[in-house]
Amino acid sequence: MKLQIINGPNLNLLGKREKSIYGDLSFEPFFDSLRDQFPQIQLEYFQNNSEGAIIDKIHEIGYEYDGIIINAGAYTHTSLAIADAIAAVTTPVVEVHISNVHAREAYRHHSFLAKNCVGVIAGFGLNSYKLAIESFIPEGTQ
Ligand code: DQA
Repeated sequence: MKLQIINGPNLNLLGKREKSIYGDLSFEPFFDSLRDQFPQIQLEYFQNNSEGAIIDKIHEIGYEYDGIIINAGAYTHTSLAIADAIAAVTTPVVEVHISNVHAREAYRHHSFLAKNCVGVIAGFGLNSYKLAIESFIPEGTQ
C-alpha cells in the first residue's frame, strides 16, 4: 500500500512553532517513527508552503496512490482550489489536524476540504497522522 502525507504551510516549523498548540517535536523524526511502525506501507512525505505546489502534488500522485493524508494548515480554511484538486483525483483523502480546530477560533471551524475527504481526524497531536494511516488499513490485517 502506498500512502502520501502532505503537510501545508508552516508545518515545516513544527517543533519551533507555537509549541503549546503543536508540541515540541519536528515532523521528520516523527515521520521516521511512522515508517518504523508501518513497515508494510510505502509511506511518503511532502511539505510545501505554497498552495500550487500542494495542488501539483495531489495531481501527481492522486490517481496512483492508495491514500493521501493531508494537513493543509491554514489552507484548510481558505482553499477552494485544494478542495477541487481533492475532488478531481481518485485516491481517497483523509484530512488531519494536530490541534482540535473546533476548540479554537471560529475561523478554524470550517474546512473547504472536508466535504471531499473520506474523513477528518483532529486534535490528537501528531498521533492524528497515525490514526489516519490506520484508517487506510483494512480491518483484521493490522
Ligand atoms: C492545523 C490547524 C490550522 O488551523 C492551522 O492553520 C495550522 C495547523 C493543525 O494541524 O492543527 O497550520 O492544520
